[in-house]
Amino acid sequence: MSADLVVVANRLPVDRVVADDGSTGWRRSPGGLVSALLPVMQANHGAWIGWTGGHDREMDPFEEEGITLVPVALSATEVEEYYEGFSNDTLWPLYHDLVAKPSFHREWWEAYQRVNQRFAEKAAEVAAQGATVWVQDYQLQLVPAILRTLRPDLKIGFYLHIPFPPTELFSQLPWRRELLEGLLGADLVGFQMPGGAANFVRLVKQRVGHRTHRDRVQLPDGRIVRAQAFPISIDTQRYESLARDEAVVSRAQEIREQLGNPATVFLGIDRLDYTKGIYARLRAFSELIHDGEFSVEDAVFVQVATPSRERVDQYRQMRDEIERLVGRINGDLGRLGRPPISYLHSSYPIEEMAALYRAADVMVVTPFRDGMNLVAKEYVACRTDNTGALVLSEFAGAAAELRQAYLVNPYDINGMKAQMLAAYHASAAERTKRMRAMRRTISQHDVARWASSFLRALKAY
Ligand code: G6P
Repeated sequence: MSADLVVVANRLPVDRVVADDGSTGWRRSPGGLVSALLPVMQANHGAWIGWTGGHDREMDPFEEEGITLVPVALSATEVEEYYEGFSNDTLWPLYHDLVAKPSFHREWWEAYQRVNQRFAEKAAEVAAQGATVWVQDYQLQLVPAILRTLRPDLKIGFYLHIPFPPTELFSQLPWRRELLEGLLGADLVGFQMPGGAANFVRLVKQRVGHRTHRDRVQLPDGRIVRAQAFPISIDTQRYESLARDEAVVSRAQEIREQLGNPATVFLGIDRLDYTKGIYARLRAFSELIHDGEFSVEDAVFVQVATPSRERVDQYRQMRDEIERLVGRINGDLGRLGRPPISYLHSSYPIEEMAALYRAADVMVVTPFRDGMNLVAKEYVACRTDNTGALVLSEFAGAAAELRQAYLVNPYDINGMKAQMLAAYHASAAERTKRMRAMRRTISQHDVARWASSFLRALKAY
């Protein structure tokens, strides 16, 4: 098989589904990345290399919606050491400002190298002569260099979806130089923010010793690697049209009724992750009730926490802490049939998410650190009538674009309370002014534009 455009990502863009008769099939996963890339991939004999999410034995490639999906098998130990370990218990906390303490284990690093090698070999196998290969995210940072050695004819891009940390933090990594050299296998390394790109260039100069100039790294063999920011976005139109869908509109109404028709619905939707600041935000909300700023009849907080990485210790602990807090708040401040917090540990289809966004007056997105945060953008896209208010952490990449949000420092509980209250009391005119400006921003910057600008920059190289 020979593909002209190859995407390499930790996960395939499909989920396994089991039908009523017991047969298994695949369904496209909800993410915007796949919908943005699908048209270009269909037009370019595209192939997507990724893990199925299970403990599979070798599987043959298969076709879905006109692209070839190439599964990479991971053993149970590899899932533990490469995915849960090095990716999500070393790199994830380290790249998110040490919100949690990263663990460094040499066996995890070895598994990470082995699995990256396997992904790179698959890409080398399926890519056509001179093809473009686009490697995604922190789980696969060694792939660009391995792939370049195997296939020097390829054009290689890499995109990091999470923050790239300041030099002082990155330098803790025992394998810092190897990771930088892995990324330098790419022609273009993309980041969410200009700051991430600058951190990378500075580290390359410091730790690898290459010459750098602005966004360029000059390698000893004459090759140039560029590091630039490409802030990711969502499929804006899809969310807008979902939000206008009649079924979604009436579901949104039903949700408010089920909540007892409070005057104000606050909403948080996050993967259950310690970077998201869920605990601090719920405390801030509960203190506002406790202080008498509003009552449980006036306001309710709906918190959707999507299960994630449940076998990693720090995720388990955090889940316990949040659930204990929710229990305490509801026990202390709730009235019969009126819990202040409606907590849902579950994932929902996109239609239900759109209905929740439509039902919410104030969306609260308060991560301690976040590469972008697409939930904030999805909420804005769904407010087609320009109502609603967004409370947003200044430490989310999205804050650079959604400047009309009520910006907060999530470490500052009083500041967060003040901004939640400001959003709560804001006049309709004030909310509309802010929302309209944010909607304009995301209607111009959607995920299709993100993908095409990255691929154009890579091609122009
Ligand atoms: C973040 C990462 C993605 C990852 C997603 C879900 O958005 O940037 O690479 O796929 O979280 O996490 P999971 O571990 O379930 O793939």
